Amino acid sequence: MNNTDIIIRRENKNDFCEVENLAREAFWNLSVPGCFEHYFIHIMRDHPDFIPELDFVAVADGKIVGAVMYCKSKLVDEQGCVKDIVTMGPLCVLPEFQRRGIGKALLEHTFAVARDMGYDTVVNFGNPDNYVARGYKSCKKFNVCFEGDVFPAALLVKELTDGALDGRKWFYHPSDVDAPCDDEKAVAEFDALFPPKVKGWQPSQEEFWIHSHSAIT
Ligand SMILES: CC(C)(COP(=O)(O)OP(=O)(O)OC[C@H]1O[C@@H](n2cnc3c(N)ncnc32)[C@H](O)[C@@H]1OP(=O)(O)O)[C@@H](O)C(=O)NCCC(=O)NCCS
Repeated sequence: MNNTDIIIRRENKNDFCEVENLAREAFWNLSVPGCFEHYFIHIMRDHPDFIPELDFVAVADGKIVGAVMYCKSKLVDEQGCVKDIVTMGPLCVLPEFQRRGIGKALLEHTFAVARDMGYDTVVNFGNPDNYVARGYKSCKKFNVCFEGDVFPAALLVKELTDGALDGRKWFYHPSDVDAPCDDEKAVAEFDALFPPKVKGWQPSQEEFWIHSHSAIT
């Protein structure tokens, strides 16, 4: 399959269950036993930071095979100047459709839409392997950090407009959209609405732990 075999379009209400199931299939056992991303998507759509104009799915032969979503977030410089940016994620592709350019197509499509909306920077947490080919760089390269000058290895930044971040120090202020995902009971109750699936360990969980506990000095 190549990119011409998929259609990229906005998600609509009728897609919600299919997209949540897709996320569950894509993320299951990837970072932890089971996953929470289907619940994350479910609650995200109602959050004020959610950006419906950047909520897209990839469709192949009438089936949704990929999805991407974004939320509003902020960078604040040392003088207190605020830059409104976007945070990407989740991005997911059905396992049997991965490594065929669908994730790439979803990102490139939505980067262009975000640029047209006036955003010049996109940030996300993730495995750098998935993103460096799309032009993301370490947050350290753009001087983007958390309060306390922490530069997480998994905090990846892409300028949608060259020079947008101009070298000054920026503190990243993510949305609190994912806060409810810490509620394990709520995640488990939501997951129980889907067909049973076995939780288990796989090596990617250790990879995730290493990435998510690492910082660049
Ligand atoms: C990550 C994911 C969205 C990528 O989508 P995809 O359609 O499989 O990726 P693509 O085929 O478009 O590949 C995009 C690039 O990433 C690379 N890539 C994709 N998966 C990779 C992997 N597991 N390891 C290393 N590189 C990978 C590809 O080589 C490609 O690079 P290129 O453009 O230089 O050729 C998809 O694999 C997925 O849903 N994974 C599970 C959920 C997940 O990890 N989401 C991201 C959260 S951080």
